[in-house]
Amino acid sequence: MDFLELAESRYSVRSFSDKPIEREKMDKILRAGQVAPTAINSQPQKIYILKSKEALAKAGTLTKSVYGAPVVLMCCVDTSRACNCAAEPGYSTGEMDVCIVCTHMMMEAWDLGIGSVWVRGFNADQAAKTFGLPENIRPVCLLPIGYPAENAAPNAQKHFSRRPLEDTVEEL
Ligand SMILES: Cc1cc2nc3c(=O)[nH]c(=O)nc-3n(C[C@H](O)[C@H](O)[C@H](O)COP(=O)(O)O)c2cc1C
Repeated sequence: MDFLELAESRYSVRSFSDKPIEREKMDKILRAGQVAPTAINSQPQKIYILKSKEALAKAGTLTKSVYGAPVVLMCCVDTSRACNCAAEPGYSTGEMDVCIVCTHMMMEAWDLGIGSVWVRGFNADQAAKTFGLPENIRPVCLLPIGYPAENAAPNAQKHFSRRPLEDTVEEL
């Protein structure tokens, strides 16, 4: 599959099977995140793998959007490593970097037949408190991942409509 076909076939999976993710596949997913570009190669990501019953239960207290996934990747930014943009004082690229890392992992997972859904419907302060994260580690998003359940399907309202390129792209 070429990349565009892969991207077009991906959808947010919100129903997962119990089948565990194989170690080699998880390693590939994490490796895809590791090679993502980050500002000045700062690599400010910190990825927590939540897969114990206890950790998944904690994730479930933060949001309804865990959807019974066997693994949740809690993608955080280490603010002490994030790049502060010299051209724009006060602007840090940390969250942007973590989003690229997360996107790489999402797409590698899909290439391996493993579904995921990007989740930001939670409170970052609450997440940090729930998992006792250090002060410099800030949750950015959750990525529940796992093999899609047999009944998994794209959400009819959310997945299929995309704004036309004429609306979202403009040549200046
Ligand atoms: C920043 C961001 C936050 C999101 N938060 C949630 C969420 O909290 N719960 C959820 O079920 N889906 C969430 N989604 C998934 C989107 O709803 C989904 O990507 C979008 O509707 C397009 O559907 P598709 O991914 O199936 O193509 C989020 C996606 C992004 C990029």
